[in-house]
Amino acid sequence: MTDSNGIEFQRVTTREQLQGFHDCAAVGFQSPMPNAEAWFDAVVPQLDVLDHRAAVDRGRTVGTFLSFDQSLTAVGGAPVPARAVSAVTVLPTHRRRGILGAHMRGCLADAEAAGLPAATLIAAEYAIYGRYGFGPSTEVVDYRIVVDRTRLPERSGDELRYVDGEEHLAAADRIRERLTIPGRVSRLPLNGRMAAGLIGKGDTKQRLVLRRGGDVAGVLTYGVEGKWTDSRPDSVVTVSELLGVDAAAERDLWAFAMSIDWVAAVVAPQRALDDLVTTVPADPRTVQVSNRSDLLWIRPLDVPALFSARNYAAPGRLVLDVTDPGYDGAGPGPAHGRFVISTDGGAGTCSATDEPADLALDVTDLGRLWLSDEPVSRRVGTGAIRELTGGAAARADLMLLSPRRPWAVEHF
Ligand SMILES: CC(C)(COP(=O)(O)OP(=O)(O)OC[C@H]1O[C@@H](n2cnc3c(N)ncnc32)[C@H](O)[C@@H]1OP(=O)(O)O)[C@@H](O)C(=O)NCCC(=O)NCCS
Repeated sequence: MTDSNGIEFQRVTTREQLQGFHDCAAVGFQSPMPNAEAWFDAVVPQLDVLDHRAAVDRGRTVGTFLSFDQSLTAVGGAPVPARAVSAVTVLPTHRRRGILGAHMRGCLADAEAAGLPAATLIAAEYAIYGRYGFGPSTEVVDYRIVVDRTRLPERSGDELRYVDGEEHLAAADRIRERLTIPGRVSRLPLNGRMAAGLIGKGDTKQRLVLRRGGDVAGVLTYGVEGKWTDSRPDSVVTVSELLGVDAAAERDLWAFAMSIDWVAAVVAPQRALDDLVTTVPADPRTVQVSNRSDLLWIRPLDVPALFSARNYAAPGRLVLDVTDPGYDGAGPGPAHGRFVISTDGGAGTCSATDEPADLALDVTDLGRLWLSDEPVSRRVGTGAIRELTGGAAARADLMLLSPRRPWAVEHF
């Protein structure tokens, strides 16, 4: 397809096109990819499942857009298929001519036609994606822990071992299969290999596996910035992955990270809001939140499929009225309409209805409601959700209650 500015939209099928894709993304993201050649070797055989799109102006790639199939975890742990969007860039010379918009409308129309319940992405800037019906649905925080070396936390007796990348990757994949955290997205095998240091060179991270009675119970990956100040050790550990199968495993891994010799501080970016880290040191005030942000954005495409896949904490019926202006306001979108959720507690069903609505909201607020990120009554308080039937917000709060705050776990 060629647009009115003479920009040609292509699917990337060759290594040469992928090189053009990379060069454009390196300018857009303001940094070249480390180990690009090794990354090309890994990506080229997978171009049929990793849908790279390029906008090309007279032979030069000026816009990039990647999409792929992903699994998104509903409240209760069920996997929901989704279309993930990533690597969105446009060269500064070609910005604001509709290149992103053309890519995004095509991608969402394809995902809708394929019957996928949702699309997902991580937004570089807050203002970009609301117009396409995406809304912020999970949050993350960065922790900074000042290690109190006079009162180091106690570890359990479970075995913790340094392992190589292959062993770590196998354990990390096994742990992920067991996680039921709402909002968690599946990890591309390629990204798993990258995180395990198996693609390219120069990875200096340390990787450990926690075992309990022979079974994998947790994984930890960290890097260290070694430093001495005034003849005293002052190193900083950065945790890039810390996952446990249960609370005990999670706390055990934190206790280990906080008690490595020479370490004065542990930083841990993009963690869950209900991470147990504050319960590990003797003094919880040594753990500070240094940043808070939205992370996963969800674009609902099939409301009945989404709400039939999740669990409910209490019996009830709830009718939602969803306004979906479509992709870029182009006309009513696939989530537009009224939907009834019905549950006896546990599983539930959801279908289109003509019944009067209890709650009214925009499609951009639906992902966060679906993942129970915040009580509905709080969103009603901010005006984001309108309560049309008395008591509906309180009823929704009980039905939608979730034992955990949503957390995407992965970056993509
Ligand atoms: C963000 C980016 C991809 C936008 O591409 P683009 O081709 O200029 O976007 P479009 O021309 O299709 O814009 C569509 C609409 O979104 C708006 N928009 C685009 N980027 C925006 C931004 N960063 N902030 C606010 N609005 C933005 C445009 O103004 C336009 O609105 P309009 O139709 O009302 O004029 C591009 O600026 C870029 O590469 N930025 C740096 C990398 C980046 O942030 N990528 C996103 C990664 S998640």
